Amino acid sequence: MAANKSLLILPGDGIGPEVMVQVRRVIEWFDQRREVTFEVKEDLVGGAAYDAHGTPLTDETLADAMAADAVLFGSVGGPKYDDAPRDLRPEMGLLRLRKELDLFANLRPAITFDALLDASTLKEDVIRGLDLLIVRESTGGVYFGTPRGIETLPDGHRRGFDTQTYTDSEIRRVAAVAFDLARQRRGKVTSVEKANVMESGVLWREEVTKLHQESFSDVELGHMYADNCAMQLVRAPTEFDVIVSDNLFGDILSDCAAMLTGSLGMLPSATLGAPDDSGRRRALYEPVHGSAPDIAGKDMANPLACLLSFAMLLRYSFDLEEDASLIESSVRNVLKTGVRTSDIMGPGAARVSTTVMGDAIMRELDKQSA
Ligand code: IPM
Ligand code: MG
Repeated sequence: MAANKSLLILPGDGIGPEVMVQVRRVIEWFDQRREVTFEVKEDLVGGAAYDAHGTPLTDETLADAMAADAVLFGSVGGPKYDDAPRDLRPEMGLLRLRKELDLFANLRPAITFDALLDASTLKEDVIRGLDLLIVRESTGGVYFGTPRGIETLPDGHRRGFDTQTYTDSEIRRVAAVAFDLARQRRGKVTSVEKANVMESGVLWREEVTKLHQESFSDVELGHMYADNCAMQLVRAPTEFDVIVSDNLFGDILSDCAAMLTGSLGMLPSATLGAPDDSGRRRALYEPVHGSAPDIAGKDMANPLACLLSFAMLLRYSFDLEEDASLIESSVRNVLKTGVRTSDIMGPGAARVSTTVMGDAIMRELDKQSA
């Protein structure tokens, strides 16, 4: 069958390449065993691209990302690049992709797997049944706002500054994504800012409230200050359904939410743009974990977050719900057998390598489709 979906795979740095090897085995499996077929391109990003080309994202790679039906991304960064020029740091490859593809809605689900309840640092009864979704704005705010810089003052002291900025339309489009998704879930959105101290937070709250009244009054809307939200996330995380927040608060809250589930090594994400006239939307999928340089190259990393990101890709870019669920249930079943990478080890479980976790997933896929 002719390849019908184009994928650009960007493994990146650190553990990115080794987890991606396992995901590529799964992609291959889908290619052969399911209806969907893929035309896959793989390229460098982040530090790896900087080493090869002197930039964390070449124009050619960016053009390929623009043209692809979906981008699957590993992770970028590492201590080796601490002294790279700021605008050429590995992270800039990712930030430029988000910005240039206009991927403004970063979806970060946090779901607990029953088999992993003991891997969380929180009590089991606090996190059992957790299923929340953070919608993080990802092309605006302090990440991109200008002016920014470090200047030397007349008295010789230095001053560093960034700008937090949001327009009404930037707020409304990400809030609309959150409301839409809430309709398919439990119908509840918590909008998070710090309107008590920030002007951009006041605007955020006003615009979300207006949009809610205009178009989404069937959804339940609550507002929360970001510091309180961080506290509620560890106190009673199952009270949340969809959280929508800006780029920086969303970054912080999503790491916090991820850890509720036991490990960053389990958390996938999708970053979506606006649909065009044909309904196609640009999209990038990546695990929430970083490049974890301390364990890179040791065959110890957890490939499941990247694999679950591929499941999100099947669901959100290609509407392949059944295929996405097949991956998710394989992950659930493999975890039930007590197989664990180091990051999710628990009492009585068997510690396995990245590759062996990949093997277990492949066997489970075969079993489920037998
Ligand atoms: C994330 C990461 C990135 C971010 C870094 C790598 C720039 O922490 O995706 O959450 O801050 O957005
Ligand atoms: Mg982060």
